[in-house]
Amino acid sequence: MIVSIFNQKGGVGKTTSVVNLSVALVKEGKKVLVIDMDPQANTTTGLGVDKEGDSVYDLFNEILENKEKEIELEENEEDKDNKEAPKKIDFSKYINKTDSGVLLIKSESSLSGLEVELVSLDPVSRTEVLKEIVERFEEEYDFVLIDCPPSLGLLSINALVASDSIIIPIQTEYYALEGVSELMNTYKLVKDSLNKKLEIEGVLLTMFDKRTNLSYEVVEEVKSYFKNKVFKTMIPRNVRLAEAPSYGKSVIEYEERSKGATAYKMLAQELIGD
Ligand SMILES: Nc1ncnc2c1ncn2[C@@H]1O[C@H](COP(=O)(O)OP(=O)(O)OP(=O)(O)O)[C@@H](O)[C@H]1O
Ligand SMILES: [Mg+2]
Repeated sequence: MIVSIFNQKGGVGKTTSVVNLSVALVKEGKKVLVIDMDPQANTTTGLGVDKEGDSVYDLFNEILENKEKEIELEENEEDKDNKEAPKKIDFSKYINKTDSGVLLIKSESSLSGLEVELVSLDPVSRTEVLKEIVERFEEEYDFVLIDCPPSLGLLSINALVASDSIIIPIQTEYYALEGVSELMNTYKLVKDSLNKKLEIEGVLLTMFDKRTNLSYEVVEEVKSYFKNKVFKTMIPRNVRLAEAPSYGKSVIEYEERSKGATAYKMLAQELIGD
């Protein structure tokens, strides 16, 4: 199953959810690949992987170069001996092992330039490059989790086109539903025209603070908007979740008995259960 963690609003808990849910799924015995599609590369560092070296950006570029070569070959049928043939891509070199057992295709800051480079492709092809990549791996894994950047640009669209479903993290705070109509428009657009199978796996309430009335109000508001799409598991505000990334660890490895670790383990079970 291929799942994008998607919300163009910044700081709602996308990366925290990808890191901790992926490790929780490994603890449940699942084989998990994470793809970091955010140029900020917070998932990469959060899983304890160095940002240097082969990234998803390099992999995209290898694929784009091959596409160019294929087009040149097609256009110059009679002169094809003088044209370079597409290279065989070594996909395995992009897979990084992490201490937790999660496998990772990492990101780097140059990924932000990719949106511009993709424009050289036709409007549909430029949305399908990540899908091509994911198709290479999907049979080997129970879950492929994709961390999206906080934008609705081509990087996020590539993630949605490559996915079976999306998890939408929503922070339980004022203006929680701000931007949600744009988010849903993008989801519907992709589902209608580029990826008919795309479903909403669930809406995940994050940073829930049980001491404030506001948190409960926001939960009700989100449930009345998304109805039965909201996960039963809510992620509490928990300082251990914020500390763990500076050690390059998930909270499950950093402090297994914390509320944050328990919540993400429950989320993994809820996800596997349905
Ligand atoms: N449940 C939580 N309790 C406490 N802190 C949290 C929790 N979830 C996330 N945080 C903290 O909130 C900040 C934003 O979280 P995170 O990076 O996961 O959001 P994001 O949606 O990936 O952000 P961006 O849009 O920039 O990629 C981080 O500093 C993170 O450590
Ligand atoms: Mg993030």
